[in-house]
Amino acid sequence: MAKLWSGRFQKETDRLVDDFHSSISFDSRLYKYDITGSMAHAGMLGRMGIITREEADTIINGLQEILTDIEAGRVEFSVAAEDIHMNVEQLLIERIGAVGKKLHTARSRNDQVALDVRMYLRDEIDAVRRLLAELIGTLLDLAEQNQDVVMPGYTHLQRAQPVTLAHHLLAYCQMFGRDMDRMRDCRRRVNVMPLGAGALAGTTFPLDREFVARELGFDAVTENSLDAVSDRDFAVEFTAAAALVMMHLSRFCEEIILWSSAEFGFIELDDAYSTGSSMMPQKKNPDVAELIRGKSGRVFGDLTALLTMLKGLPLAYNKDMQEDKEALFDAVDTVKKCLIIFKPMVATMRVKKENMARAARGGFTNATDLADYLVQRGIPFREAHEIVGRTVAYCLERDKSLDDLSLEEFRRFSDAIDEDVYEAISIARCVAARNVTGGPAPEAVQKAIRAARERLDKN
Ligand code: ARG
Repeated sequence: MAKLWSGRFQKETDRLVDDFHSSISFDSRLYKYDITGSMAHAGMLGRMGIITREEADTIINGLQEILTDIEAGRVEFSVAAEDIHMNVEQLLIERIGAVGKKLHTARSRNDQVALDVRMYLRDEIDAVRRLLAELIGTLLDLAEQNQDVVMPGYTHLQRAQPVTLAHHLLAYCQMFGRDMDRMRDCRRRVNVMPLGAGALAGTTFPLDREFVARELGFDAVTENSLDAVSDRDFAVEFTAAAALVMMHLSRFCEEIILWSSAEFGFIELDDAYSTGSSMMPQKKNPDVAELIRGKSGRVFGDLTALLTMLKGLPLAYNKDMQEDKEALFDAVDTVKKCLIIFKPMVATMRVKKENMARAARGGFTNATDLADYLVQRGIPFREAHEIVGRTVAYCLERDKSLDDLSLEEFRRFSDAIDEDVYEAISIARCVAARNVTGGPAPEAVQKAIRAARERLDKN
């Protein structure tokens, strides 16, 4: 079949060019949106008398049949027809004849592709939000089950102060909660209807753009035709939000990888989410977590690719923009795949409570609490800090922890210290005393879990 735009050409395009600029190999995934968008467009053309209602019905029925055929795997797309938009149009003309040629009235592929990508992304944002909500739900369940599991909190990857595993997991709930918000916010700007922008300068036909927007579930129509066909901000925004999801997953994975090492020994991943070594029989590797960490780089790359593709483009549409799709699709696929596998991986990991607690007891994680104890006895904090520092140095020389010191030893550093010091610096007490909003104390954590569940229900 001749190209749909062959009129002004004397020659066929070189086969290399067909291959080079064809996007059907990747944009075929937009078929459903392309067809639904075309149905709404045709319906509107019929309502407005731009084509007859009968013609509109014929087109809509033809499109419906094509959709059914594609879904049943009965359609083979053609590389020569370039992209999903022209493939569908060509199939329509083959199927219903000359009437099919009226579908593209008052429309360009430039506003059509913008429509399709927006409809696609809207659905994918909803899917990503659902996956994030499921993950947060799982993390909240885990937090609930691990409220009494004390572990060291770190700064500089050095043991700092004791927290609980529940508190640590809740930190990630906050991150993924913000990711959900960002996705929703981005969706508002995705859900704007560009048809009517034409190739760049609108159209001479009296379109009812608002009707098309309503039909397709859009909240608004785009307000400038040049912008409508050249704006890919929404794809950049989504990819940036997806990059943040990946960054959060990657940090979590990094911890899971560390925690499952013998050096930490905090968790053991389930066999179903671990892999072995082809040479070393003893190995059990956290490959899934590593791969998620590795795949975060893909999405950062997708974001960079989109920004770089757009930065030098004059208004309005340029073919460069066809390059938006593989980056965007890759970001969508990667973030979904990673969210899907991450959830059962954390849900099934075995927490080695005792090892976590032991690590929390070592490393002087209660040193700040000893200083706070001295402050309560009237010693200025800077001075208390100095006293405890010297006490820690003493312990280090003797390979002891603070709790191992006798009262007599304590008193060498400050006579403000009494028998009640042992209670004051016990790990359970160190956690329980941190009862500020957002802190690790069991009471604060319980409140945080409740608040997070409520927020999730509303989302
Ligand atoms: N496949 C193209 C894309 O993805 C559709 C728009 C093409 N428009 C054009 N005038 N060449 O961007």
